[in-house]
Amino acid sequence: MKRPVRIAVTGAAGSISHSLLFRIAAGEMMGRDQPVILQLIEMPQAMEPLRGIAMELEDCAFPLLHSISMHDRFEDGVVGAHYVLLIGAKPRGPGMERSELIAANAPVFAGQGRAINEYANRDVKVLVVGNPANTNALIASRNAPDLSPAQFTALTRLDHNRTRGILANHTGANPKGIRRITVWGNHSSTQFPDLSHATIYGEPALPQVEENWYQEQFIRKIQKRGSAIIDARGHSSAASAAQAILNHMHDWINGTPENDWVSMGIVSDGSYGIEKGIFYSFPVRCDYGRYQIVQGLEISDFARSQMQATETELLEEMQTVADLLPQETEASH
Ligand code: NAD
Ligand code: LMR
Repeated sequence: MKRPVRIAVTGAAGSISHSLLFRIAAGEMMGRDQPVILQLIEMPQAMEPLRGIAMELEDCAFPLLHSISMHDRFEDGVVGAHYVLLIGAKPRGPGMERSELIAANAPVFAGQGRAINEYANRDVKVLVVGNPANTNALIASRNAPDLSPAQFTALTRLDHNRTRGILANHTGANPKGIRRITVWGNHSSTQFPDLSHATIYGEPALPQVEENWYQEQFIRKIQKRGSAIIDARGHSSAASAAQAILNHMHDWINGTPENDWVSMGIVSDGSYGIEKGIFYSFPVRCDYGRYQIVQGLEISDFARSQMQATETELLEEMQTVADLLPQETEASH
């Protein structure tokens, strides 16, 4: 029997967590032979609803759920954590862009980065979900000088899954027949869902769709999907975000399938000419808990301009939060 791993989750009484925690406890994230300890973190005013969720988790009698702890101080909840899911943050409402959340959410991620640096397991893997996810990941990582920036990631898997699901329905293929899609850049309305290298049942995807539909409708639809869901539901995506979190962590830990890759928001090493240091979504292959950017993909002029637009937005977001970014130290590399 494996030893249990510690998973700290913020926003544990929120909408995403409500779709997520039960599936983690059922083994869908770490694997069906990996016991887990859930360290649930919430705001003081949400501790009572959190207690209710903990009771429900207990009542499911999940064999892999070793124990649950509840915390209203992040510093306590993150102690010894092997995995940290930073979900807790204010979501946007109708008509807002995600970047408008910077003022409300960014300072929190600086403090969380410092606490992860101090109290989490040295090999911790962190996923930032709270928006604006890429820039929050940058802030958290830069405030954790003893950890590698590669231990911090931002969720763009939801955009990747959206690209796959919507392309599948447009072409009549099953989503599992679609491979090698990439979402580049920011988890925002400038992101670039790229089908240049995608295949459908092994055949190039682009010749199978109309160029006009791809460039004028499809890209826009993926970029605006989060807003469309908020308009329709009155709250941002939750179940699909939970699914994407499970996929992101599962693949990071267990590896990506042969002949495919996934999109993850990670620190840029300058690949594809993207400014070093920003958290940008790249195509990556994962293996045994490590990931590598897929290199050597051909980039068209159209793709290049899309990739640069989303890079520019991330550089602007970085400027906005400059006072939350301590200078990089030797130890941070
Ligand atoms: P929600 O409002 O339903 O729940 C958020 C929870 O976080 C609340 O219970 C709140 O009390 C808690 N919280 C707030 N600040 C906290 C803190 N500092 N520490 C601990 N808990 C805290 O929101 P939600 O629908 O669960 O969404 C959470 C975040 O995820 C939002 O920022 C949303 O925009 C973002 N999101 C990101 C993606 C993505 O793909 N990256 C997808 C969906 C949602
Ligand atoms: C999403 O993409 O659904 C989330 O980031 C929520 C949002 O604000 O769009």
